[in-house]
Amino acid sequence: MPEIKLPEVELNIYTPKDPVEVPIVENRICTKESSPNFVRHVIFDISGTDLEGHVRVGQSIGILPPGKNEKGRDYKLRLYSVASPTKGEDGESYLISTTVKRTIEEFDNNELYLGVCSNYLADLQPGDKVKMTGPSGRRFLLPENATDFNYVFFATGTGIAPYRGMIKELLDNGFDNEIVLIFGCAYRTDLLYSDYFEPLDEKHDNFHYLPHISREDRRPDGTKKYVQTCLWDEAELLDPLMEQENTLMYICGLKGMESGIYRTLAKKGFSQYLDVREPASGKTPEEWNERDLKRYVKPSARTFVEVY
Ligand code: A2P
Repeated sequence: MPEIKLPEVELNIYTPKDPVEVPIVENRICTKESSPNFVRHVIFDISGTDLEGHVRVGQSIGILPPGKNEKGRDYKLRLYSVASPTKGEDGESYLISTTVKRTIEEFDNNELYLGVCSNYLADLQPGDKVKMTGPSGRRFLLPENATDFNYVFFATGTGIAPYRGMIKELLDNGFDNEIVLIFGCAYRTDLLYSDYFEPLDEKHDNFHYLPHISREDRRPDGTKKYVQTCLWDEAELLDPLMEQENTLMYICGLKGMESGIYRTLAKKGFSQYLDVREPASGKTPEEWNERDLKRYVKPSARTFVEVY
């Protein structure tokens, strides 16, 4: 296994007490018209600020929404994963992007809850300015020696954001090892950046884009396709890759997606991606309960996790 050399990163150049104001240059919808979900790709211009050249793919930026909560306090910052490569959308590190899903929930009493920051960001127009902090995140990164590894990327929903930048960064630099991107969403109308990943899959023999549409696609046995079921259903592609000692695994998206992936990894015998401690190590993966999965089954040094 080559040594995983994570890059040094600069953290919190701008803080909630001292944020920077940056303009939005583009705000476009990613989901299809007929989708009940609204996910947007938002691009910010950070040129001339101290963020320029200091935001790495895999990191997050913070956004401070205006206004106050019901207790009269300023709204807290929300973190968003960067969706652009380290060189930015423009190749010059001037433009960075993120992927924002409008949070819209209905409670039992028919009351509608609109996520404060996601709806604020989604409504903004080019030229509008936002208060930004960051960057944050020091582990969910590509190694400096990125070309020494293969990558298996798991994403659900907007968890795909960092992989958009990472995959562009890898393939633009003549990467010739293997990349598999396993993406899960509910309906075909919620596929994110598929117009970007599908042509890349066609163009590069070493890039494999595997969308899993949980409420439309079915596995051969009739059960739902989730990102983790890929480990069984695409075994011909994944088994040899997972067994290579220079393969790294990344998990980004819904909190809770790790447990399904970890259990499947253990059942398949890919224990090198996990750090399983007592008492879970004395049990079979079928016997692991929620407490085991939460406390005693952890990612190993070659597994990177960002869930929310
Ligand atoms: P489902 O909702 O059919 O159960 P989005 O963020 O766009 O809603 O997508 C999340 C995707 O992740 C959906 O396809 C959802 O499936 C799926 N999902 C939900 N729970 C898990 C889980 N524990 N592990 C993996 N995938 C999950």
